[in-house]
Amino acid sequence: MTEAVVTNAPALGTQRQSNVSPRLENRSPWWRGAVIYQIYPRSFFDANGDGIGDLRGILEKLDYVASLGVDAIWVSPFFRSPMKDFGYDVSDYRSVDPIFGDLSDFDALISAAHQRGLKVIIDQVLSHSSDQHAWFQESRRGQDNPYANWYVWADPKPDGTPPNNWLSIFGGSAWQWESQRQQYYLHNFLSSQPDLNYHEPAVVDRMLSELRFWLERGVDGFRLDAINFCYHDHALRDNPAKPETARRGRGFRTDNPYAWQRHVFDNTRPENLFFLERIRRLCDEYGDIATLGEITAEDPVATMLEYTRGNTRLHMAYNFELLVDEFSLDHIRDAVEDQERHGAEGWPCRAIGNHDVARVATRWANGSGYSAERVKLLNTLLLTLRGTVCTYQGEELGLTEATISREQVRDPYGIEFWPNFKGRDGCRTPMPWTGDSISAGFSTAKPWLPTPSEHRRHSIREQQSDDDSVLNAYRTFVDWRSLHPALRWGGIDFIDTPENTLAFRRFVDDEQILCVFNFQSSEAAIELDPAVQLTSLHGHGLTEGVLRPGSLTLPGYGAAFLRIAP
Ligand code: BGC
Repeated sequence: MTEAVVTNAPALGTQRQSNVSPRLENRSPWWRGAVIYQIYPRSFFDANGDGIGDLRGILEKLDYVASLGVDAIWVSPFFRSPMKDFGYDVSDYRSVDPIFGDLSDFDALISAAHQRGLKVIIDQVLSHSSDQHAWFQESRRGQDNPYANWYVWADPKPDGTPPNNWLSIFGGSAWQWESQRQQYYLHNFLSSQPDLNYHEPAVVDRMLSELRFWLERGVDGFRLDAINFCYHDHALRDNPAKPETARRGRGFRTDNPYAWQRHVFDNTRPENLFFLERIRRLCDEYGDIATLGEITAEDPVATMLEYTRGNTRLHMAYNFELLVDEFSLDHIRDAVEDQERHGAEGWPCRAIGNHDVARVATRWANGSGYSAERVKLLNTLLLTLRGTVCTYQGEELGLTEATISREQVRDPYGIEFWPNFKGRDGCRTPMPWTGDSISAGFSTAKPWLPTPSEHRRHSIREQQSDDDSVLNAYRTFVDWRSLHPALRWGGIDFIDTPENTLAFRRFVDDEQILCVFNFQSSEAAIELDPAVQLTSLHGHGLTEGVLRPGSLTLPGYGAAFLRIAP
């Protein structure tokens, strides 16, 4: 047993109060403290047997999603697209790509989801379109057509080089020469993803009407992709260089020169706030709609707060602070406290995985092998922190990152940076529904990305029947969490505990719960303030510890949830 006793027992009654003073009326609206299940449609379930997942596939598996106890689904892009960035390059914002089905499939999905009490959030990629979009096809032809100003065009410098030093996240200059128009255009991602020009009022109006189209179809919210990239500096000023010590990857790679600049002119411009306010006003017309912004910015916490402050901009935002490569409890605590310190105005949304980063079971394994118990603890920790939670498909199964060979890589980001970075395909492989077929029950055809053989033993069918599985632990905990208002709506305060353990208090009205996690494989002993009356809560599904007056002993990867007497 590893004795890891706290010398200064946490004084539960006296730790710093968060700026939040939660009250039970914070329960509404629905998205506050909700669990959102992210579906990457290409890899969820293939209903038409072409090797690629589709909307009918999601519909067929909706009972499974509902069985997780989640509140909502967020469906990654399914709009018409040449799929250069797998749907994040939209060529028609109002239609469904034939790979995924059609609008009637979407309507059927939304009504089936609502019947099961699930809200539906869709992804909207507003900052850029595909170069195949009709607007860009017109815009690129010359400077005197109705769409001429819809994208960000600029003349070359006198020596023919791009207008400024801006770089693309996906590598190289952010400017691409267009020979028809004899100008450069801006692209923050692939050159086939030209940036829309939000300084053009017609673009703002049109993008709002694209949102309205989906609101009319009954969606309950939007996840707004790269939302701080909508505006650029009108004067196209150069970004300043960033000192080497300040280059850290939060959403982009540090071996990419993109990390060597301070991105003060190419994104997160002040004009964007007015656009967010218009999005909010539009959504408010439709009632209980949720907006969730994705933020990759120089100071992501400040931007998140600015974007979610008051009741006039976005409802929630998330950043990449918990999507980093290294696992560190100190980092998790710092990231949460940093946000809490800035005040309670913005409601946090948290994710430890998504379609852009390596699967958390591998990414945060800290070099050790796979441990189902550790994965359960990670899922539970995420579900216990203050905020709305996004679970990426497969996380409830504890899926590992798939190994993708150079021949198999499909992600353009991975192709560009191979072999330093092998791309995002490893977290996008098909969901394993059964343990037996080649594609693990995902499709009757060869799937668009291979199904890793090790995923078969983590399949849904295998895990359903195993009481001790990661899947059943996830279900049990989501269910149990819903019984505790403090966990869903409450404030949060951290408490100092020994290395490899993490503890915090969640509180709302008179419910106070002390949550304690042991992230080491061996037992940990934690000294507690004997003056505080604690009672173990049961039924959460994790391996429990032993509570004695003044101390708690947790088994390896165990957790305790202790009610603090009022
Ligand atoms: C999405 C990525 C996408 C990028 C460009 C993001 O932040 O999550 O998957 O490649 O936007 O649209």
